[in-house]
Amino acid sequence: MKELNDSKWYDVEFVPKDYVFSKEYGPRNLDSPVCDSIPVIDLSKANGHITPGEAIMSASQDFGFFQVINHGIPEKKVGDAMSVLKEFFDMPSKEKQTKGWIYTNSTDYAKDGVHLWRENLKHPCHPVEDCIRLWPENPTRYQEVISAYLVEIQKLSLRILGMICEGLGLKDGYFEDMSEVQLLSSNIYPPCPDPNLTLGILPHQDPSLITLLYQGDSTGLQVMKDGEWVNVGAIPNAFVVNIGNQLEIISNGRLKSIKHRVVNSTRETRLSIATFVNPSPDCIIEPAKVLVNEMEPSRYTPKQYKEYVQYNNAFGNHTVAIQNALRSEN
Ligand code: OGA
Ligand code: NI
Repeated sequence: MKELNDSKWYDVEFVPKDYVFSKEYGPRNLDSPVCDSIPVIDLSKANGHITPGEAIMSASQDFGFFQVINHGIPEKKVGDAMSVLKEFFDMPSKEKQTKGWIYTNSTDYAKDGVHLWRENLKHPCHPVEDCIRLWPENPTRYQEVISAYLVEIQKLSLRILGMICEGLGLKDGYFEDMSEVQLLSSNIYPPCPDPNLTLGILPHQDPSLITLLYQGDSTGLQVMKDGEWVNVGAIPNAFVVNIGNQLEIISNGRLKSIKHRVVNSTRETRLSIATFVNPSPDCIIEPAKVLVNEMEPSRYTPKQYKEYVQYNNAFGNHTVAIQNALRSEN
């Protein structure tokens, strides 16, 4: 659907044909109760005798997903990042096209000719001094606010990876050098006249080590659990953390990279900020030596991260552009 005089693409009474996914992608489970089975972990204290690190390990093995609260990231930094992204998405569409590949309007991405009900902004974040020039210049606060947000995300992700490192029995600092590369991917999912027909994001696994997602107080994220889609509840100020494919490989399958998707809503606008914490492009990803033995042979073939990305077309239509951005870091 073409945008006319900047009327918004989602300002429609009926879902246009090219946004309708076939039934094989449904049902959308829109009425299923909000799932409370994704563990919520308080990072500031133990829960009885269970430490935050132990809780993270068992959530990562059983669900591949958990939420963290009392994580130490100031609310204001998160709020600022959410508002600056909202302002970005609210700009007239031609102002969002300036940098080409980083902004995807709803018609850029299609699976079998069908578009997702969302807009997306993606950009690399490491090293920040080099990447920042690829980021939006408008809103004018964008670069300052998002870089401050990413500093916090970096700290939190290292903290979580540190706990996982200990939980897996890997040597101290195992993830430190390989987890500097971040990729930001923010989505806005406007209200949709009939969410039974559309999808915000197709079912996928993340090609990251871990992903930290902020979803404000909106719903729509669903996680595959025992063959069913379950909703991830909205918890104010929490971050949703999930194990990506690379950490599943390094842990030799002990930690699970789980399929998830986003469904739309008739009323709500969902704005999310996903930060993928990725290995460096040249890093060889393979099961950690200490986790492989006769009883538990290696379940994955070693692969350089950039080869993995290429081979799996890990970032969809934008894989090549993202690979090029990654390559320029070397
Ligand atoms: C992703 C993702 C969920 C969301 O970007 O990989 O799963 O809510 N995002 O946008
Ligand atoms: Ni994802």
